[in-house]
Amino acid sequence: MIKIIPKNNIAVEIECNLKSLNKNNIKIIKSCLIKYGLIYFKKQKLTSKEYLKFSKIFGKPTFYPRLKGLSKKYPHITVVQRKSTDKGPNFGEQFHTDSSYTKKPPKFTMLLSKIVPRKGLGNTDFSSQYLAYKYLPLKMKNKLKNLKGTFSSNGPIVKTTIERTQEKGVLKKELIAKHKIIRSINGKKTIYCSPGHLIAFNKSVKNFNSLKNILFKHQTKKQFQYSLEWEKDQIAIWDNRSMLHQATAFNGNRKMHRITIT
Ligand SMILES: [Fe+2]
Repeated sequence: MIKIIPKNNIAVEIECNLKSLNKNNIKIIKSCLIKYGLIYFKKQKLTSKEYLKFSKIFGKPTFYPRLKGLSKKYPHITVVQRKSTDKGPNFGEQFHTDSSYTKKPPKFTMLLSKIVPRKGLGNTDFSSQYLAYKYLPLKMKNKLKNLKGTFSSNGPIVKTTIERTQEKGVLKKELIAKHKIIRSINGKKTIYCSPGHLIAFNKSVKNFNSLKNILFKHQTKKQFQYSLEWEKDQIAIWDNRSMLHQATAFNGNRKMHRITIT
């Protein structure tokens, strides 16, 4: 049995048992992900083996270039954690898309919640860039049409990763990649611009800060956003090409197992 519960134009909750999916269930799940950009499942007590197996229906798990994996057996699973002793901002506490500083960023990101704070704390905020593109003024659409952005692993968001990279970091050197700001996914146009990583546009842009500020403000308008609440044993999957996301500020314990998919 599978039940689809749309939350708005951005997210959908799916009720089913991820341990016993048939071909039709998988087809429905994949089409929801493509249509909405964010899907989530509650009450899924999966082992790492089952979690990894489930992730493979969306593609190939990739390595995260900045943190070590969970274990030798599960190098594709990374731990995204907030500890009660942490002093700085939360890991990923600024809108971004994962690994936009790599040549081929992951298509999808998944999180499985292991430890969560009380309900309403530690939400993940999402912003649909399909909607952001749709409501972008025509003048801006034309301006951004052929524009490329330069994205760096040392972009503004790096300040949120210091505590985890000190513990589990594997890579210190800066990674940089250029990507088109407007791209098409399955025939649908989206804005691909990670505020946490953007450091430059093409040389043709005279005032980087001015255009960046206008664009970021538009990309993160409340009407494009969905704030996902977590409970233990919940899985969320989003399209990393069409969805910005950010951790929200809180103090306490929270642990997620993350898999990125290419
Ligand atoms: Fe992220």
